[in-house]
This record gives sequence, structure tokens and C-alpha cells, in this order.
Amino acid sequence: MNTEVKSQKIKVKIFLFCLLFSVLCHLAFSNNVFAIKKTREEIDTAKRCVLCHTQISPGIINDWERSNHAKALVTCIDCHQADITDTDAKKHEGMIISAIVSPKDCSRCHPKQVMEFNESLHSKAVSFVQNLEGDRAGDDTLAYKIEGKAAAVMGCEKCHGTIVKVKNGIFDKDTWPNTGIGRVNPDGSKGACTTCHTRHLFSIAEARTPEACGTCHMGPDHPQYEIYMESKHGVIYSSEKQKWNMDVASSSWDTRYFRAPTCAICHMSGIGGLEPTHNVSDRLSWELEWPMSERTNDWKGKREKMQMACLSCHSKNWVEGYYQQFDNAITLYNEEYYKPIKKEMDELYKLGYLTKDKFDEEIEFKFFEYWHHEGRRARMGASMMGPDYTQWHGFYKLARNRLELKRMIKEIRERKEAKREE
Ligand code: HEC
Ligand code: HEC
Ligand code: HEC
Ligand code: HEC
Ligand code: HEC
Ligand code: HEC
Ligand code: HEC
Ligand code: HEC
Repeated sequence: MNTEVKSQKIKVKIFLFCLLFSVLCHLAFSNNVFAIKKTREEIDTAKRCVLCHTQISPGIINDWERSNHAKALVTCIDCHQADITDTDAKKHEGMIISAIVSPKDCSRCHPKQVMEFNESLHSKAVSFVQNLEGDRAGDDTLAYKIEGKAAAVMGCEKCHGTIVKVKNGIFDKDTWPNTGIGRVNPDGSKGACTTCHTRHLFSIAEARTPEACGTCHMGPDHPQYEIYMESKHGVIYSSEKQKWNMDVASSSWDTRYFRAPTCAICHMSGIGGLEPTHNVSDRLSWELEWPMSERTNDWKGKREKMQMACLSCHSKNWVEGYYQQFDNAITLYNEEYYKPIKKEMDELYKLGYLTKDKFDEEIEFKFFEYWHHEGRRARMGASMMGPDYTQWHGFYKLARNRLELKRMIKEIRERKEAKREE
């Protein structure tokens, strides 16, 4: 054995000794109110996981060690334990574990966060992509029929989630690995908490950054990340984020620690008398992602909640004025851009000038982009202070493509009617 490997081994031994010593001291002397109570047997099991995985996957142990879970003595087995009857259970070194730690597993200790998450649209993201509930102009057709299944697996489903399939403890590789926001787990629970708090640190600081949301909330059809980064709020975040303390517990996280909001602060945090929530739908008064925007259920109460966040830093006049400008932009889109073109498109289908199949005619791509790309950008830019997205990526393109769509509609009509006369 060469000396380098030898000294590496000694280092590992010293490290393990220190780790165990500190865990045991913690157990013996800790008055940590959060620490999870453990039996002798549970401690022995946890030790075995940690000892072996220090060599197998040191990255995981390193993350876990730095987490608040390790400080509270939440160990590998607290999360990975499984019952032999669970479909995703497998025998592992004499123990029964599961590689998936679902929201149901987290809910043993965090029931409030899981309940709120379940009430949000995040938890339903798979049903939309696989068209289990309703139809949004055939987006799912685009993924599975036009583009091909492999594209859907690496695209749509990475953000939205898969229905994870498992046989004898082995995951089906078309559905795993996956950490989409609405992933349907083998135990029937929905979601993957690691989408915002990656394993095994499970940090709140990470979840509060706009980058945590940006993996999914970006691109031509919902550029919330880009909109945020161009807004004054994003500019302030970029210029001074190193000075903010992002690790403060939810109960005391307030304007002492930041000068401008991030995504999480407006949509989730408990600032200005608000309760923190994992239900990201709770403060929204409009459905901006739909082809035509409509009010959400109980929209006034939801709007009031969002405005409570603004009022920690702005005056009432400022906030009400901004919301009026925002509402006007949404109404303009609905009435002047969406409705007239939608009416003419419906007419083409009724007359049989377009087939019932989606995305088999060029105009269908054009109309899809009209509401799904520029139409959303205009509305989302207006909701989150992004003037360039509202104007140049939004209303300007809407105006230009409204003209183009009218021309295409006229041509289709003329062509079909000429044929009919023949
Ligand atoms: C004697 C060594 C050893 C012990 C003890 C051990 N593991 Fe593992 N574990 C492994 C090896 C080896 C792998 C496979 C690594 C790979 O696939 O790269 C693994 C894989 C895993 C996986 C991933 C499984 C998958 O299907 O992707 C999980 C989760 C896991 N271990 C958790 C645990 C937990 C929890 C404990 C304690 C109850 C534990 N391990 C104890 C060696 C061990
Ligand atoms: C707070 C809960 C929690 C704790 C504690 C925990 N894990 Fe995990 N672990 C997870 C989650 C969540 C995943 C990701 C799987 C998923 O998406 O459901 C995971 C994934 C894994 C994987 C597969 C990772 C990969 O990329 O292939 C291994 C191996 C693993 N854990 C081992 C461990 C070991 C060893 C410990 C103890 C040091 C541990 N875990 C502690 C929640 C936990
Ligand atoms: C056995 C109980 C237990 C389980 C299971 C568990 N946790 Fe925790 N979690 C805790 C405790 C205890 C704390 C520390 C509380 C504190 O310090 O305020 C904590 C803290 C956290 C934090 C805050 C970390 C921070 O930076 O302050 C997050 C996020 C978190 N857990 C997520 C999860 C997720 C996600 C899962 C499932 C994958 C999970 N937990 C499973 C007990 C658990
Ligand atoms: C892994 C991808 C992913 C991440 C990360 C993510 N989201 Fe989402 N989000 C989605 C998807 C997909 C939807 C649409 C869900 C649906 O329609 O069912 C969505 C919808 C939303 C909505 C609209 C809800 C509604 O009722 O209309 C809000 C607000 C939101 N997310 C905020 C956030 C915030 C804030 C973060 C970061 C803290 C975040 N999201 C992180 C994928 C993600
Ligand atoms: C980069 C991540 C990402 C990818 C890839 C992605 N989506 Fe989405 N999707 C989102 C987010 C985020 C939202 C929420 C937008 C909002 O509420 O503003 C969303 C919204 C939706 C909605 C609207 C749901 C509702 O509430 O009405 C549908 C339908 C949808 N996506 C289908 C798809 C399909 C089908 C694909 C693949 C062709 C796909 N998505 C690819 C992130 C993604
Ligand atoms: C959309 C992103 C997102 C997802 C998904 C998410 N979280 Fe969180 N989580 C956050 C944010 C942001 C915070 C910090 C909120 C704040 O600013 O106070 C947080 C905070 C927490 C905390 C600490 C609460 C406290 O009192 O300090 C726990 C525990 C937690 N999350 C558990 C979970 C569990 C369990 C899941 C899965 C059901 C989950 N999270 C999924 C974004 C997310
Ligand atoms: C200054 C506060 C603020 C910040 C910061 C912020 N948002 Fe928003 N967001 C809003 C408001 C206000 C709305 C519109 C609310 C309504 O419908 O009444 C909104 C709407 C949304 C929607 C809903 C779109 C739909 O489909 O209905 C999503 C998704 C979203 N934001 C995600 C994000 C993400 C991701 C970030 C960070 C990159 C972010 N937000 C930053 C205030 C904010
Ligand atoms: C944590 C504090 C904070 C919160 C919360 C907050 N803002 Fe701001 N906002 C600021 C600061 C600071 C500026 C920069 C003011 C300046 O221009 O001097 C700003 C700027 C703005 C601007 C001007 C944008 C521009 O282009 O100049 C608008 C509009 C605005 N905020 C609206 C809102 C709305 C609406 C909400 C709630 C949905 C909100 N803000 C939440 C701190 C906040």
C-alpha cells in the first residue's frame, strides 16, 4: 500500500472517530429541544449507515453532517426507513430501506409544510403535463406525440415530475431518477421536497434564492427568473446578496435581513404579519398561465395576502397604484389580443377548415406561441415589475403576431372557400 493511500485511510479513521464522538456527546449531554429521541438499536443502525457511506459516498455524509438534521440527530434511517410491504422497499445490508424519501416520509416531522404543499398547484404538476385533468390547448400532445417520449422524459417531466414506477424495489428507468415538482411517488404522495431544498443539506437559505426557482421558472413561456433579475428587486438582490443572512428560521425571517424580496419572500415567507406557507398558490389573484387570464377562487383574500408582503417596504398608494396598472395590462391582453383571435380560430375549426388534431397545421403553432409565449410574457412581466418582458418580449410581439395571425386566417379562409366553389 503506498503512503498516500495509507495516510488517506488514517484520515478517514480519525474523521470517523471524531464524528462518532461528537454524535455520542450530543446524545449524552444535549439539551437540544429539537433533538430526536433514539433507542440504542436505532443509534447502532444509524452508525452503520454513516460508517459505510463515509467511504461509499462521502459527498452525502459531508452534506448531511453540515445540515440542521444532523444537529438535531435526524439520521439516515429516520428518512430512508421503509416497511417490507412498501412497493419501493428493498433489503439493504440487513435493513429495509427506500431510496425515495417522499413528502409522506418528511410529514412525520414536518406535517404543516407537507399539508400546505399539497394544497398548492405545485403538487398537481404531473396531472397537467399528462393531461389527467382538463386540457390546456393540447400541450401534452406536443410532448408525447409530436416531439417524442424521450423528449418528454428529459424535458417536461424534469420540471413537472413523473409517475414513478417500481418493481421489486427496482425503479423503472423511464420514470427515475426524477425530482419534478409534482412527482407522484410509489406511496401515492405527491412532490419532491428536494426541488427547492436539495439533499442532503436541506437548507432554507438555498430555497430562498431566486436560482432555486429558476430551474423551472424561466424560458420563453414563463420567464419569471429573467423578469425578476431585470426588476429593481432582482438588481438589489444581485448587488448585495452576500450581505444578507438567508439562514434565519422562518419564524423570525423579516426585513432586518434583506432589503428587497426574492421569489420566496413574496410567494412563501412570513413577512409583515403573514404566515409562512408552502402553498405558492395562496397569494395569487389571477391565473396568468392560462390562454385567457381569469380570477382565482377567493382572489380578493389572496391579493390582500400578497399586498401585506409589499407593505413591509412600500406605501399603500404605491402598492394599489401598481396593482391597478397590472390589472389594466391583463384586461388589455384578454380583450384586445386574446378574445378576437380565439373567436376566429374557433370559427375555422367549426367550418372544418382546420382538422381537430392539434399541432398538425402551421397556424396552430403560431396561435400556441401567441398565448403561451408572448401572451404569458406580457402578463408575467406586468405582474413582477419586468418592463422589458412586458413590452419587447410581450405586447410588441403580440401586436405583430396579431396582424400575422389575421393574415394567416384570411388566407386559409380564401383557400378553402375557393376550393368549395370549384
Ligand atoms: C456495508 C456498507 C453499507 C451500509 C452499512 C449501508 N449502505 Fe447504503 N449503500 C451501500 C452501497 C455499496 C450502495 C450502492 C452504491 C452505488 O450504487 O453506487 C448503497 C446504496 C444506498 C442507497 C441508494 C439506493 C438506490 O437504490 O439508489 C441508499 C438510499 C442507502 N444506501 C442508504 C443506506 C442507509 C439508510 C443505511 C443504513 C440503514 C445504509 N445505506 C447502510 C453500502 C452500505
Ligand atoms: C431528511 C431526510 C434524509 C436524511 C436524514 C438522509 N437522506 Fe438520503 N435522501 C433523502 C432524499 C429526499 C433523497 C433523494 C431521493 C428522492 O428524491 O426522494 C435521498 C437520497 C439518498 C441516496 C441516493 C442519492 C443519489 O444521488 O443516488 C443515498 C445513497 C442516500 N440518500 C443515503 C443517505 C445516507 C447514507 C444518509 C445518512 C448520512 C441519508 N441518506 C440521510 C433524504 C434523506
Ligand atoms: C425524524 C424527523 C424528521 C424527518 C423525517 C425530516 N426532518 Fe427535516 N427537520 C427535522 C428537525 C428536528 C429539524 C431541525 C429543526 C430546527 O432546527 O428548527 C429539521 C429541519 C428541516 C429544515 C430546515 C433546515 C434549515 O436550514 O433550517 C428543512 C428544510 C427540512 N427539515 C426538510 C426536510 C425534508 C424535505 C424532509 C424529508 C425529505 C425532512 N426534513 C425529514 C426533523 C425531520
Ligand atoms: C422543479 C420545478 C419547479 C421549481 C424548482 C419551482 N417550481 Fe413553481 N411551478 C412549477 C410548475 C411545473 C408549476 C405549474 C404547476 C401546475 O400547473 O400544476 C409551478 C407553478 C408555480 C406557481 C403558480 C401557482 C398557481 O397556482 O398558479 C408559483 C407562484 C410558483 N410555482 C412559485 C415557485 C417559487 C416561488 C419557487 C421557488 C421557491 C418555485 N415555484 C420553484 C415548477 C417548479
Ligand atoms: C423548465 C421547466 C418546464 C418544462 C421543461 C416544461 N414546463 Fe410546463 N410549466 C412549467 C412551469 C414553471 C409552469 C407554471 C407557469 C406559471 O404558472 O406561470 C408550467 C405550466 C404548465 C402548464 C399549465 C398548467 C396550468 O396550471 O394551467 C401546462 C399544461 C404545462 N406546463 C405543460 C408542459 C408540457 C406538456 C411540457 C413539455 C412539452 C412542459 N410543460 C415543459 C415548467 C416547465
Ligand atoms: C417551491 C420551493 C419549496 C419546496 C418544493 C419545498 N420547500 Fe420547504 N421551504 C421553502 C422556502 C422558500 C422556505 C423558507 C420560507 C421562509 O422564507 O420562511 C422553506 C422552509 C422549510 C422548512 C423550515 C421551516 C421553518 O420553520 O424554519 C421546512 C421544515 C421545510 N421547508 C420543509 C419542506 C418539505 C417537507 C417539503 C416537501 C413537501 C418542502 N419543504 C418543499 C421552499 C420550498
Ligand atoms: C415583489 C414580489 C414578487 C417577487 C419578488 C416575485 N413575484 Fe411572482 N408574482 C408576484 C405577483 C404580485 C404576482 C401576480 C399575483 C396575482 O395574480 O395577483 C406573481 C405571479 C407569479 C406566478 C404566477 C403566474 C401564473 O401563472 O398565474 C409565478 C409562477 C411566479 N410569480 C413566480 C415567481 C418566481 C419564480 C419569482 C422569482 C424568480 C417571483 N415570482 C418573484 C410577486 C412577486
Ligand atoms: C423587502 C422590501 C420590499 C418588498 C417586500 C417589496 N418591495 Fe418593491 N421595492 C423595494 C425596493 C427597495 C425598491 C427600489 C425602490 C427605488 O427605486 O428606490 C422597490 C421597487 C419597486 C418598484 C419600482 C420598480 C422600478 O422599476 O423602479 C415597484 C413597482 C415595486 N417595488 C412594487 C412592489 C410590489 C407590488 C411588491 C409586493 C408584491 C413589492 N414591491 C415588494 C423593496 C420591496
